Amino acid sequence: MSRTPFVAGNWKMHKTIAEAEEFITGLLPLAGAIDDVQIGVCVPFTAIQAVVDSTRGSSIEVYAQNVHAAEKGAYTGEISIAMLDELEVHGVVVGHSERRQLFNETDADLRAKVPALLAAGLTPIFCVGETDAQREGDETEAVLRTQVTEGLADVADEDLAKVTIAYEPVWAIGTGKVASPQQAQDACAFIRSLVADRSAAAAEAVRIQYGGSVKPDNAQELLALPDVDGALVGGAALEPQNFAAIVQAARA
Ligand code: PGA
Repeated sequence: MSRTPFVAGNWKMHKTIAEAEEFITGLLPLAGAIDDVQIGVCVPFTAIQAVVDSTRGSSIEVYAQNVHAAEKGAYTGEISIAMLDELEVHGVVVGHSERRQLFNETDADLRAKVPALLAAGLTPIFCVGETDAQREGDETEAVLRTQVTEGLADVADEDLAKVTIAYEPVWAIGTGKVASPQQAQDACAFIRSLVADRSAAAAEAVRIQYGGSVKPDNAQELLALPDVDGALVGGAALEPQNFAAIVQAARA
């Protein structure tokens, strides 16, 4: 089965509304009509409405960067799935390593968030990945197994392929230290095998992105790997030309 590549740019805590609109104005002529790659921008909450409006009718999808699993309640500062759905986002990034490390997001949180998003018809971009110490300690597969198994535990087998999984080795995020093609391929193939333990059909169909220092000059090699179906891009996604170059690399 051929899987449509999916390239998403994660802006993190960058871009005011004005800066977000400037980015979209630059991106639309470069990538707004591409239909053989799924393209997403993961936008701070405050700019979501503006970016949904300015990308309407284009092929650019809009994602949030976090969400709370509960329907509503006394969770000061949190945003619910219904609130995001109302803004017409396509999906949400969950489990990013920055949220796991800096904001104590746990596998148990993800176990609730991923199926809750699917139930609302939104696409989770579910991030997993090992730290430097875990790789050095030969724990990469054990860590990925725990994260994938826990995070997807309450997703029905027939819904597994609706999740996009992002493999992001923590040591490669924002460091300029990209995983080697072999490391990226091995990890993504391992993640696919974990999905296959649940459903062979879902494993064939599920998209697995690589993330961690993806740039225009290394994207093609990574995106050509058999088990890498796209990229989750941080720093290089902040500027339309660089982001569009990575999208183009996914078309090859
Ligand atoms: P980076 O970030 O491309 O800047 O390494 C990737 C990410 O955090 O998703």
